[in-house]
Amino acid sequence: MADSWQDAMEHAVNVARRAAALVREALREDRKVMMKSSAVDLVTQTDQMVEQLIIQSVKEKFPTHRFIGEESVAAGEPCVLSDSPTWIIDPIDGTTNFVHKFPFVAVSIGFYVNKQVEFAVVYSCLDDKMFTARRGRGAFCNGEVLRVSDQEDIRQSMIATEFGSNRDAEVVERIFSSMRKILCIPVHGIRGAGSAAINMCLVACGCVEAYYEIGMHVWDVAAAALIVSEAGGVLMDVDGSDFDLMSRRVVAANCRSIAERIVREIDVYSPIRDDAPPPPADEALPPEHKH
Ligand code: IPD
Repeated sequence: MADSWQDAMEHAVNVARRAAALVREALREDRKVMMKSSAVDLVTQTDQMVEQLIIQSVKEKFPTHRFIGEESVAAGEPCVLSDSPTWIIDPIDGTTNFVHKFPFVAVSIGFYVNKQVEFAVVYSCLDDKMFTARRGRGAFCNGEVLRVSDQEDIRQSMIATEFGSNRDAEVVERIFSSMRKILCIPVHGIRGAGSAAINMCLVACGCVEAYYEIGMHVWDVAAAALIVSEAGGVLMDVDGSDFDLMSRRVVAANCRSIAERIVREIDVYSPIRDDAPPPPADEALPPEHKH
């Protein structure tokens, strides 16, 4: 069985490279932008094309495998992780970056069996960084072993986070409040790449000590979570409990003490879980517009 997952992982790496070629090509052309849950939650035809490319190519090789894909879920597919081998796909993590040509965009593929992650591929495709991990076998970037930072003093740390795509006044206030408190610990700085998966790979590389966010989705973190843990990092919920893939809340850090220190400063709230039943189908689709 182990060998068949190796085969699947090689397939994931290859299809991520093919997907990235589409992303790079699309960056040279006009990108048609559509809105999803809000005016700042964006999707493009490239997200949809790339997801279809990945799903079709996996289906041909592994016809019994299942999928949770960002754009398939947006189109009404259920977001349910069963015990079956399941590919969790974000075709473009960093869609807003992609729309604006802000150069951090990743193709993210996490592979789960019995609800446990087996391998992960995050291809940061504009700087050609292929992050991979296999459970129990380490994390790598372009074949080089990754190790988290050994800094344990939060006051000498760099923290990554994001503003996300929720613009409710109360949520925005909580985001700023958490950020203000963490900044004033003080930490050396706060950064954000605009892609949850890339932020987590930055933790795995030791470029930042931690990343936290409330509001990202399962497909943003399903692969990068393994890359962090295989690089020696820790994952937890923003309230300090165990990391829950579907809860849309994460702290990923180089060590437990930094993760727990951050947890103390986060104004916690609970977005609708990814595995919650879908909203009624009659909600109007937002209009398309050109960027
Ligand atoms: C988004 C990015 C962003 C994060 C959002 C995610 P997408 O994913 O990862 O950094 O702040 O929460 O939804 O929409 O570009 O795949």
